[in-house]
Amino acid sequence: MNIINTIKKRKSCRTFNPVLLSVEDKKILEDYISENRKFLTDEVITLSIFEKTTDSKKMKLDYGMIRGHNSYLLGTSKSSADSRVHYGYLLEKIVLKATEIGISTCWVGYFDQHYFNEVVVENGFEIPGIVILGYPKDKQTRVDKLLRFSANASKRKDWTTLFFNYHTKLPLLPDSIHKYADSLEMVRLAPSSGNTQPWRIFFDDKTHAFHFFKKSISNRYEKKGLHDIDMGIALAHFELTSLYNKLSGSWIKYTDDNVKPIENLQYIKTWQNK
Ligand SMILES: Cc1cc2nc3c(=O)[nH]c(=O)nc-3n(C[C@H](O)[C@H](O)[C@H](O)COP(=O)(O)O)c2cc1C
Repeated sequence: MNIINTIKKRKSCRTFNPVLLSVEDKKILEDYISENRKFLTDEVITLSIFEKTTDSKKMKLDYGMIRGHNSYLLGTSKSSADSRVHYGYLLEKIVLKATEIGISTCWVGYFDQHYFNEVVVENGFEIPGIVILGYPKDKQTRVDKLLRFSANASKRKDWTTLFFNYHTKLPLLPDSIHKYADSLEMVRLAPSSGNTQPWRIFFDDKTHAFHFFKKSISNRYEKKGLHDIDMGIALAHFELTSLYNKLSGSWIKYTDDNVKPIENLQYIKTWQNK
């Protein structure tokens, strides 16, 4: 997959054609899910696609403004920030695979958990968010356009707000980071809860490491763990783009001794270039 084109192509869809995924498309996604289960730790998060075919009960999403949905991707994570980051990372990879094969998606943070009563949520676990999967209706509705407009969905913060030199704290410019410019740009284009874009990345030019920090933008999203999912999404975009450009590296969680705390930001993980 040309991941750069796929990331540029992806956008949230809120008006779906009310049909189920084709058998072939569902199989491609399910195979991809089972090949991509692990992240940094040994934690295994099991994700599944759920289809709701009966009309008896429909789940209202965004007060009914998201329409025609009947297929959902979800699983459970531990009720911890790290596990939610992991969850966001895994689901976003599937979102991008779906985009590649022509399936539209929408991340949803506010939904009725009881709607998925076939999912066992053990004590200390949760369903941090879901992704709707489906085919878009040919024409976007007025509501769709309005929701995109109110979330300022097509807009993104610029580089000077998001990416910095770890030592000087000065903004990082695409020219100064040459090989990794695409990786950062693809983080910039990532989806996030309410389009808050809470990722802040600090490049250490001495060790060639990218330190990912979270800036809490919305208390409501932070409390619900949605910013953790956003961070996982950012890690997925960065990794997939780097690997696509043949830049190898791995994720490390450092302690305070290795990565100095930065005011108002929370350290998440580091991409160590190899
Ligand atoms: C964790 C998360 C939760 C989200 N929750 C919702 C939601 O509940 N309802 C909704 O309409 N969109 C939701 N979104 C979609 C965002 O509003 C959308 O990604 C953002 O505005 C950027 O637009 P784009 O995805 O079209 O690029 C969510 C996105 C993320 C990443």
